[in-house]
Amino acid sequence: MMDQAENLRKKLNGQISKMMTKAIAVVSGKGGVGKSNFSLNFSISLSKKGYRILIIDMDVGMGNLDILMGRSSDKTIVDFLNGSSSLKDIIMDGPAGIKYISGGSGLSKLVSTYRLASITEELDACFEEFDYIIFDMGAGVNEDTLKFLLSVHEVFVITTPEPTSLMDAYSIMKYIHVLQPELPFYIVANRVNSMKEGQETISRLSNVLKKFLDRESTNLGILPDDRSVSQAVRQQIPFTLFNSKSSISIALEDLVTRYIQQKTKEMPSYTPISFVSKLRRFFFER
Ligand SMILES: Nc1ncnc2c1ncn2[C@@H]1O[C@H](COP(=O)(O)OP(=O)(O)OP(=O)(O)O)[C@@H](O)[C@H]1O
Ligand SMILES: [Mg+2]
Repeated sequence: MMDQAENLRKKLNGQISKMMTKAIAVVSGKGGVGKSNFSLNFSISLSKKGYRILIIDMDVGMGNLDILMGRSSDKTIVDFLNGSSSLKDIIMDGPAGIKYISGGSGLSKLVSTYRLASITEELDACFEEFDYIIFDMGAGVNEDTLKFLLSVHEVFVITTPEPTSLMDAYSIMKYIHVLQPELPFYIVANRVNSMKEGQETISRLSNVLKKFLDRESTNLGILPDDRSVSQAVRQQIPFTLFNSKSSISIALEDLVTRYIQQKTKEMPSYTPISFVSKLRRFFFER
């Protein structure tokens, strides 16, 4: 049976095939605010709409994407970076047609320049098979993640209404802004108790950005605090698949629909540099 996603993919093909692979990093300042759950379910929702999605767990050492989807991988991004596996070997099948790369652990600090050159070559060939590559980042930033972030096309910042989370979200955005003022920011307010609280969370952050950095940001959406998330996590089923009628699944679906509509509108004039070219430039032309 040809699945629904495949049908949709075919229908959408005319439009999607013209699109360059878009790289999105999902970040937060504070940890545990819902990045991985968001990244995974956002990816699944896009995939169901016919987009080809690769999600990469960038939280090397603490990665848990595969746990969230009840899978386990014997090959991880670490095997690729240290040269023991090819990129194709570490790309696994996830739910709802998504592909994923697991985070793994034990990456030695230095990846040789020689290895880096072949890494970017492999990435070039492989990444163009996807419409979106979603990087689920670890909490906070270090110098390396920060530089890596400069290669993506969009940064999604997840925050909760807690002042500590907002403060840390602002800090990471400030860091990114200083290095790359052009990189678009999309804000998600997660775990809100009401729409009002969500709107306040988004405006608080966007107002501070405007005031101190003279920086615009886009409201990507508001997601409720919903106990079905932790139930889904415990059962190792992504929350949109666990219960597609839960308030969080409905809110996420709405967020994705609006995101896609917005992208479709901006597509004609949008000619970004490919993620891998940017990555290469960052590694080799410093
Ligand atoms: N919208 C939500 N409603 C209720 N609980 C949530 C929601 N989002 C996240 N959680 C809870 O927060 C926990 C952490 O979520 P998640 O692992 O996605 O965060 P994270 O930002 O990726 O964490 P880390 O910084 O450790 O990578 C989940 O296991 C779940 O219990
Ligand atoms: Mg995480």
